[in-house]
Amino acid sequence: MKTELIFATNNIHKIDEIKPLLPIGINIISLDQLLFFEDIPETGNTLKENALQKARFIYNKFERNCFADDTGLEIDALSGRPGVYSARYAGEHCSFVDNVNKVLEEMKYENNRKARFRTVIALIYNDIEYFFEGVVEGEILLDYAGVVGFGYDPIFKPVNQLYSFAEMPLVEKNKISHRSIAAQKLVDFLK
Ligand code: IMP
Repeated sequence: MKTELIFATNNIHKIDEIKPLLPIGINIISLDQLLFFEDIPETGNTLKENALQKARFIYNKFERNCFADDTGLEIDALSGRPGVYSARYAGEHCSFVDNVNKVLEEMKYENNRKARFRTVIALIYNDIEYFFEGVVEGEILLDYAGVVGFGYDPIFKPVNQLYSFAEMPLVEKNKISHRSIAAQKLVDFLK
């Protein structure tokens, strides 16, 4: 049976990461295929609230099964920041580089570099809401390493890995990442 799901995101990197994880029979519809280019409201206080808010917004608009992902980088030495504020950590309309620079500056003299990426996927399927979570532990590097990927990838090195996410081909990131763990749970559920 064929399952079609809208992925409620304008982030092309997230779509590129999730698409290869889906088996034949589960098709993703992107928002640009639906000619929807607006920002989706994201005002919750937790990743779960934000993921659900994004999924509900698109579900109500198009009345089709859909899912959304909300992701945060949680740094122990910063009491879990940027966490749910990861997208706009350096302020409204900031870039990935602004955010990364802010983290590097705040972590400049910090010895405890432990951090994790956490993704929550909210799925709305035939009016019922489901959640799937993925976490990857790692550390914040002292400086940029690599140019692949997006966001905080250049300063995050997963545990037991030699390279940052931005130094890995997508296929390697997808073997261990927060998003792929959550996506695998989504796929298992849909199967
Ligand atoms: P969002 O609110 O889920 O779109 O993500 C918040 C922010 O976290 C994004 O703007 C990115 O900077 C960052 N982010 C999300 N996922 C990843 C990832 O897989 N690697 C690096 N940064 C990410």
